[in-house]
Amino acid sequence: MGSIKKLLSLFTPRERRNLAVLMVAVVGMAFLEVAGIGAIGPFMTVAANPAAIEGSPRLLWVYETFGFTSSRDFLIALGLVVFALVVTSNAFTTFTMYWVYRFASMRNHTLALRLFRQYLYQPYPYFLDHNTSALSTSILSEVNQLITSVLRPGMEALARGMVALAIVAFLFVSDPVVASAVVVVLGGAYAAAYLIIRKVLTRIGTERKDANRARFKAAGEAFGAVKDVKILGKEPAFEEAFANASRLYSWRQAQRQILGTVPKHVIEMLAFGLIVLVVVVLIGADESFASVIPAITVYAFAGYRLMPALQVVFRGAAHLRTALPVIDSLHHDLNTGVREAKTSQRDVRRLAKLDEPRLPFTRQINVKSMSFVYANSQARVLDSINMTITKDTAIGLVGATGCGKTTLVDVILGLLTPTAGSISVDGVKVRPKNLRNWQLNFGYVPQQIYLSDDTVAHNIAFGIPADLVNMQAVQRAARIAHLHEFVVNEMPSGYDTLVGERGVRLSGGQRQRVGIARALYHDPSVLVLDEATSALDSVTEQAVMDAIHELLGKKTLIIIAHRITTVREADVIYVMDSGRLIASG
Ligand SMILES: Nc1ncnc2c1ncn2[C@@H]1O[C@H](COP(=O)(O)OP(=O)(O)OP(=O)(O)O)[C@@H](O)[C@H]1O
Ligand SMILES: [Mg+2]
Repeated sequence: MGSIKKLLSLFTPRERRNLAVLMVAVVGMAFLEVAGIGAIGPFMTVAANPAAIEGSPRLLWVYETFGFTSSRDFLIALGLVVFALVVTSNAFTTFTMYWVYRFASMRNHTLALRLFRQYLYQPYPYFLDHNTSALSTSILSEVNQLITSVLRPGMEALARGMVALAIVAFLFVSDPVVASAVVVVLGGAYAAAYLIIRKVLTRIGTERKDANRARFKAAGEAFGAVKDVKILGKEPAFEEAFANASRLYSWRQAQRQILGTVPKHVIEMLAFGLIVLVVVVLIGADESFASVIPAITVYAFAGYRLMPALQVVFRGAAHLRTALPVIDSLHHDLNTGVREAKTSQRDVRRLAKLDEPRLPFTRQINVKSMSFVYANSQARVLDSINMTITKDTAIGLVGATGCGKTTLVDVILGLLTPTAGSISVDGVKVRPKNLRNWQLNFGYVPQQIYLSDDTVAHNIAFGIPADLVNMQAVQRAARIAHLHEFVVNEMPSGYDTLVGERGVRLSGGQRQRVGIARALYHDPSVLVLDEATSALDSVTEQAVMDAIHELLGKKTLIIIAHRITTVREADVIYVMDSGRLIASG
């Protein structure tokens, strides 16, 4: 019960209401189905023995009320009624199941989207603590699994469960003894089977989930580091990592299917024995085969409907059980951290226009006794930093690797929140409320530039819908980054040239310049370069730095470098060591 509640909590109130409506339809479906079965009894009674009309007050009443004159006509009429009921019941079932499947499958979309948003809108530190391939696994694989192996069969199980209940109720009315036997034997058998395999199901579910993550991780890492894999000849190691996870995943998947189905065959034998027993008992009591045919037909038909229903309910319960670890983790992910922000198509368009108000920056950025500690460690990566950045000057930030340069600009960029101290701009403190407006001032060229498998233009106008890309802004940015000439003269389709995954079709220097152009597209007032040139040879580095130097005095520049020579043109140079600023000049 608790697991069903948890599963339901993954959906929005509206989705839960839709589900409730569907369930009402499902109950209606169950009643129609039972009515169909119920009508077969009288039909068979009359077919086997027309004289039975006289013997049954109910049949006689119908016979006389509708003015039948021959038992043959009456039989035909009864047959038509049974047929009509079966047709209606099946039509309604088709209709209801269409809605059930549609509802379930669309939840694959809505749930995955909500999860995607929930992750995407988390603050930056969340991504320092979570493996992104695990996030992708949840969104792309686990949600899908949950829908196809739990929600959809679960709804079907509920529907079939209703039918089973209605059939049992009908059996109780027509023969309480047989009904009790059915409930005790079949219900008991399934309940026992479930109790026996319950623990195993949970373990299988946990291992399945972990193996699925491992599978995604192995594939992602192998292709992500494909160059290293090739050079080091490490294909076998990655193959093995993937094979192990994939084998375990598939085997657990198979076990879950098997455990959901095997009891069916055992219980079918039981049911068959039960029918034989009923026949023997009935004939023993009545001694006339003809008179028990109608009863047997009803029981056989009821059993024929009841067995698959019970089986589906059982399988649903088994799958729900194996999905518990996934439900728990999705439940946790959807309910912790920052709530997903509401965005819409219109927001995408509005943001593309770049007219959100920027936090005014006309004089100075002040960093005051600012310290920072990463959540998962004790070390003070930044220790009482004091810094003044005057508008339209260039700041150089140098220091040994690991001294905290990237962390410092991440804090200034508002990606990380200072543990102590503050950052203010023109005397206004940067707070969560004005963070977005603050960040709009920045263009950022990271140490590792991530290019998407798209055109040069779309990589420069990053995250902007194709129809809203401002080509003038693209070209202006590309010119400043000394990229324009190259794009126009050397690239096969100019700005429409595809750069390949992560920009593999570009050289390191070209990628870097696309990164710079991207940072300049929205004409920021501050440009931050995190070792934007350290991976380049000195000639290319010089060319890129020349491009940057043209911005001196026009933009505020924060340039991080290993070597002081890279930033010798800067107005102020800060030297950093183990999280402290030790010199400036
Ligand atoms: N997510 C993190 N969690 C914990 N510690 C971290 C994290 N990221 C970085 N660090 C630690 O913080 C310190 C500063 O890292 P940072 O990336 O700021 O150095 P850096 O000066 O930019 O180095 P480099 O010149 O090599 O880029 C390092 O000791 C690093 O190990
Ligand atoms: Mg760094």
